[in-house]
Amino acid sequence: MFPKKVFESFQNIPTPFYYYDLEVLKEGLRRIKAESEPHGYQVHYALKANPNITILNIVKGYGLGADCVSGNEVKRAIEAGFDPRHIVFAGVGKSDEEITYAIGCGIFCFNCESMQELEVIHKLAVKAGKKARIALRINPNVNANTHKYITTGLEENKFGINLWELESVMERLPELKSLELIGLHFHIGSQITDLTSFKSLCLRVNEIQGWFVSRNIKIEHINVGGGLGVDYHEPDKNQYPDFKAYFSLFHEFLEVRPGQQVHFELGRAVVAQCGTLVSKVLYIKKGQNTNFAILDAGITELIRPALYQSYHSIDNLSKKFMPAGSVPVLRYDVVGPICESSDCFRKAVDLPETERGDLIAIRTAGAYGEVMASSYNLRDRVKAFYSA
Ligand code: LLP
Repeated sequence: MFPKKVFESFQNIPTPFYYYDLEVLKEGLRRIKAESEPHGYQVHYALKANPNITILNIVKGYGLGADCVSGNEVKRAIEAGFDPRHIVFAGVGKSDEEITYAIGCGIFCFNCESMQELEVIHKLAVKAGKKARIALRINPNVNANTHKYITTGLEENKFGINLWELESVMERLPELKSLELIGLHFHIGSQITDLTSFKSLCLRVNEIQGWFVSRNIKIEHINVGGGLGVDYHEPDKNQYPDFKAYFSLFHEFLEVRPGQQVHFELGRAVVAQCGTLVSKVLYIKKGQNTNFAILDAGITELIRPALYQSYHSIDNLSKKFMPAGSVPVLRYDVVGPICESSDCFRKAVDLPETERGDLIAIRTAGAYGEVMASSYNLRDRVKAFYSA
């Protein structure tokens, strides 16, 4: 993954830091474009995965729209030069200020998650003297077969309007004259690696569309959300998800009505593999049954393993360029410096014998890594570096 030259350039950068390989990012985007365009799909980038301006500038250059979940994300997308007409705004808890701001920006659409939210957007649109375009985010009750914390499309989740509420929402909607219903929105979860979950989504969307068609309600836009997973175990072997299989599945199973536009909101699949958290070994310490490799990065830089028990591939970069077999392989619990036992990147990791000062790469960290960093223990905010 890392050519020696890149590794050498790391020597002068204070650790820990995020390193982004922009060529990997661009190749992923090129593939997304190549596989989505023939179907006429509009792909939005979910800023929540990584809102760094350098990354946004590149993503925008490939013609993606922006999927935002806060007023500040809408603001960041506009600063990065995304056309407001290609910005969608989702989230169960949009504040009045955020809604008013987004109405003022003329965003493409609010993905609305409850009856009460529709009323509030309407009231604020009236106040602004504008019409707000909306899509109903419907909870399709489809299982994404992923970690429960990143499952969003089941009735037990807080997201979306439940199917049994649709009737009453559609009765009320015509009275809200400052809202223009333009679409339906769905998102069942994240890090979905079994594509059959997306097939189930398509079939459910088809049924729901039938409900609207039978009532003569025209829906111009279908937004199927994001969620395409990446390979955390073998990032070098599978650097890019199978975008062809992904978009083709929707082409095969989603019934698109004449004139309808299909939208996607990909986050992780766009940026995960281009990012690596680079950290230095501070100490090696003997535990009862293990060796601890204590890094200068922890849950404050990458919370995913602690929060979702997620797996990240870990390499000792300092030993990578040594002749094969010249260093024995030992087993380590790779942990951080934070005062919590959850501050552990992975247990029982086989690494070439590791020493104080070695550089460690924690891979597939471009999505939901840096952006979820915190300053717990009053830690400095982690910095980002980009490939030339
Ligand atoms: N659209 C909506 C409405 C979403 O809620 C999300 C992610 C996406 C799109 C983008 O999903 P993606 O393509 O990235 O899977 N922090 C967690 C992931 C949280 C995902 C939240 N919503 C993690 O590190 O795994």
